[in-house]
Amino acid sequence: MRQRLVVLISGAGSNLASLLENLPVTQIPADVVAVGSDTNAPGLQHAAGRGIPTFVVPWEEFSSRAEWGVALGDALAAHEPDLIILSGFMKLLPPELVSRFSPRILNTHPAYLPEFPGAHAVREALASGATETGASVIVVDEGVDTGQILAQRRVPVEPGDDEAALHARIKVVERELLLQVLENMTTAIGT
Ligand code: GAR
Repeated sequence: MRQRLVVLISGAGSNLASLLENLPVTQIPADVVAVGSDTNAPGLQHAAGRGIPTFVVPWEEFSSRAEWGVALGDALAAHEPDLIILSGFMKLLPPELVSRFSPRILNTHPAYLPEFPGAHAVREALASGATETGASVIVVDEGVDTGQILAQRRVPVEPGDDEAALHARIKVVERELLLQVLENMTTAIGT
């Protein structure tokens, strides 16, 4: 049976765009059935342009993180996801929302976890003077980028790299790792 993926983004969604373009030409039995956001993210257009439903659960319309989490959980559940993929989703999920879908929430992260968790991983890797960083795909747990690591790969920091150049090379690796993880997971689910 084909797996239903719901992707959450907060920004440009370039990794989402890559997934939407490349997933259908793999043998992976999975489809992106909806894309959601905490804000009116420009990346939602990548989905809307392909006729994929989008939804926004605006953070600022709720009086607490927990209430926002319930609403986001209901919006996700409406699309009956087998897997939820955080792809540049920059809000921390409330623990109740994580446990509602755990262990079926994945996150892609632009660093070689547990190095450089959090929202500024590329900037912090550059500032540290590290000669290499990386990309990771993890299972989301209640911590900040502390969940089980499903795949990761090193990315060298090149002389003269700025944040944008390094992040662009890391994203290429993130996209490959996500497809690799989806292939492994959907094979495991299907057997
Ligand atoms: C990606 O590198 C993703 O891993 C990162 O945001 C970028 C989104 O780029 N996520 C985090 O840093 C989460 N801590 P995109 O909007 O161009 O796909």
